[in-house]
Order: sequence, then C-alpha cells, then structure tokens
Amino acid sequence: MRHTTPDGPTAQGAADVPTNVYTDRAIRLATTSDIVALVAIENTSFPGDRLDRRRFRYLLTQANSVTFVDVDGAVVRGYIMLLLRTGWRGARVYSIATHPAHLGCGVAARLLTAAERWATAHGCVEVRLEVRTDNAASLALFRKRGYVAFGRHAAYYHDGMDALRLRRTLAL
Ligand SMILES: CC(C)(COP(=O)(O)OP(=O)(O)OC[C@H]1O[C@@H](n2cnc3c(N)ncnc32)[C@H](O)[C@@H]1OP(=O)(O)O)[C@@H](O)C(=O)NCCC(=O)NCCS
Repeated sequence: MRHTTPDGPTAQGAADVPTNVYTDRAIRLATTSDIVALVAIENTSFPGDRLDRRRFRYLLTQANSVTFVDVDGAVVRGYIMLLLRTGWRGARVYSIATHPAHLGCGVAARLLTAAERWATAHGCVEVRLEVRTDNAASLALFRKRGYVAFGRHAAYYHDGMDALRLRRTLAL
C-alpha cells in the first residue's frame, strides 16, 4: 500500500460527496478531529511504515486525497484513504485498516464500497493499490472485490517484503 510520499493540492470536491456514497450510515468523511483515533488504529494495525499525527494532518488537509472512516457513534472502527493524481482517472488506496477490536465485522468491506463509489462519482475509471505479498487478509479482501494482480514491486516495504500491485476497473 503506501510507501512513496504523496503531494499535490487538496482533492477537488472531496467534501462534495454524492449521497449514494453513504448508503451505509456508519461511513463519513474523516476530519482532523479523527487523528487521535486514526493514529491508534495505525499503531495497532501496522508493524512498520506507520502514519503519525503529522502525516495524517497533512494527508487530511493538504494532500490530493480523500479519507473515509467507519464509525459507531464516537468510536472510529476503521479508515480508508485514497490518493488522486492530476491527469490520471484513477484512485490509489493509500491505506486501509480496521481497529483490531472490530476485525471481521465488515468494516473494511464497507469502507472499500464507499471509497469505490466516491471514486466512480468523481470520474475515476479504476482503483489501484499495493499489498504485501504476505498479507493474506488484505489480499482476500481485495480479490473478493474483483481486484486482480498486474505487477509487483520488489523489496517495496521497510522489511524488504515485495508488494503485489492490484487493480480493479470501476463500472461507470
Ligand atoms: C485487511 C483488513 C483491513 C480487513 O479488515 P476487516 O474489517 O476485518 O475486513 P472485513 O470484515 O470487512 O472483511 C471483508 C473481507 O476481507 C477478507 N478478510 C478479512 N479478514 C480476513 C482474514 N483474517 N483472513 C482471510 N480473509 C479475510 C474476507 O474476504 C472478508 O469477506 P468475508 O467476511 O465475506 O469472508 C484488516 O485485517 C486490517 O486492518 N489489517 C491490518 C492493516 C492492513 O494490513 N491493511 C491493509 C494493507 S494492504
């Protein structure tokens, strides 16, 4: 998933979310008030290459990105972050994670659905991402949603693990 540093202007229209993205009322756009919860999810979900408070703040406020959270009242159960790039009609899943207390409850599936709907509504024709080759849960999540491998980055992660490149064409 993430590795390189994104940059660029704030995603145009990120706040202008079509209502059909929210067919599930547990999903909303992330704000800077979610940063503490996002860091907590991050620290319990990833062994390395973690996003810290500063990085989340940048990604939420300045990067060409959009982030959704899955919530139950005040509890943030998980998040997904998409990166966009000028001149490419696609979106990259930069990160997705579910708090360990809520694994296996459909949180990631809901987040991915919302992100794909947002991407489709904003003119994207495909979604891409990188996944560690040893991340069975993530590979299962994306393969089940129709993502297919189209390449590999050797020694992509901090510990030398390869990344599988996955993509899915969005229905327009
Ligand atoms: C990958 C991750 C986001 C899945 O989150 P989740 O909320 O538990 O996933 P869901 O409950 O929505 O499951 C959706 C699908 O993912 C797959 N899946 C999820 N967890 C799985 C597991 N432990 N083993 C195998 N498949 C799994 C299944 O296909 C599942 O569908 P099903 O329940 O109908 O079989 C979560 O394990 C996580 O946060 N891992 C740590 C961070 C990480 O690795 N992020 C991905 C980086 S690429």
